[in-house]
Amino acid sequence: MTDRLSPDESGLDRAAALLRSGALVAFPTETVYGLGGDARNSEAVAAIYAAKGRPSFNPLIVHVADLDAARRLALVGPGAERLAQAFWPGPLTLVLPLRPDAGLSPLVTAGLPTVAIRLPAHTLARQLIAAFGGPLAAPSANLSGKVSPTRADHVLAGLSGRIAAVLDGGPCPVGVESTILALSPRPSLLRAGGLTVEDIEVVLGTALALPDSDPDRPTAPGQLASHYAPAARLRLNAVAPEPGEVFLGFGPGSGDLSLSPSGDLAEAAAALFHLLREADRIAGPTGAIAVAPIPDRGLGRAINDRLARAAAPRV
Ligand code: TXA
Ligand code: MG
Repeated sequence: MTDRLSPDESGLDRAAALLRSGALVAFPTETVYGLGGDARNSEAVAAIYAAKGRPSFNPLIVHVADLDAARRLALVGPGAERLAQAFWPGPLTLVLPLRPDAGLSPLVTAGLPTVAIRLPAHTLARQLIAAFGGPLAAPSANLSGKVSPTRADHVLAGLSGRIAAVLDGGPCPVGVESTILALSPRPSLLRAGGLTVEDIEVVLGTALALPDSDPDRPTAPGQLASHYAPAARLRLNAVAPEPGEVFLGFGPGSGDLSLSPSGDLAEAAAALFHLLREADRIAGPTGAIAVAPIPDRGLGRAINDRLARAAAPRV
């Protein structure tokens, strides 16, 4: 039985107590719901991998309450410091050298010498990390390979009975996962996400190495081609639906379901995972979904990345 906890003091107290006992609690962030566990407790971290059915070579993001907490876990160099000052709290994850005395379970980093750290902006996430009083390992709270959750109902649809509780904070406002950056040997995009490349480059004053422009870039392990997969087949850059397809539109005059009738990328990102689930439900397991073209700039880059993975051949 998975409890649905209310977004108030009693819900937060219960969630923090469960986490301290080594249990798993899903919680809202501004991007997607995370599946939280004590990042210092190997049993809790192992339980995260087990609940998601996630391969244990795919490391987890550690969520902290403030920059000082990040400094206790990782070496925060001048570049990282500048990005953190500009964008934390917010949808940015930084991959940094792990401190030997960080005290994290080695399972969190899957044995890598680096750790991915994020300081979320969502009020409930921040209150939960503070009430828990330590670093929280939290991947997205979905079964591995499935569509990420942006509502408590999505979490329960995949993980009910497999985790202790979900803290219900309503829909996640950003709707796509955090942007992941590596700083060394040079600033590189590992995953497009809720913070745009354009905004990051303004602060860096230089271009980011992008996945599609640099074949030698360091990659985020576990960025498997097939991911975020609905049961139905997906056809991208569709101008119009073919007979029998559920159409997921974008912009004026769009079809059955629309990511954003006004063509707004932030609105589309916030709606993306919920509407993929809706389209999947309408299409049925043997059906098909057609998705309108999305401009590949700003948040469109993250949306197109998720759509491409959702459409990739299943492995
Ligand atoms: O918005 C988000 O980032 C959400 C919320 C819950 O915070 N979390 C999330 O976690 O998307 P997850 O586990 O679904 O994705 C984490 C990604 C994986 O692709 C993983 O390979 C990468 O981060 N990652 C983790 N540690 C890494 C490291 N040391 N080096 C490179 N990539 C790393
Ligand atoms: Mg995920």
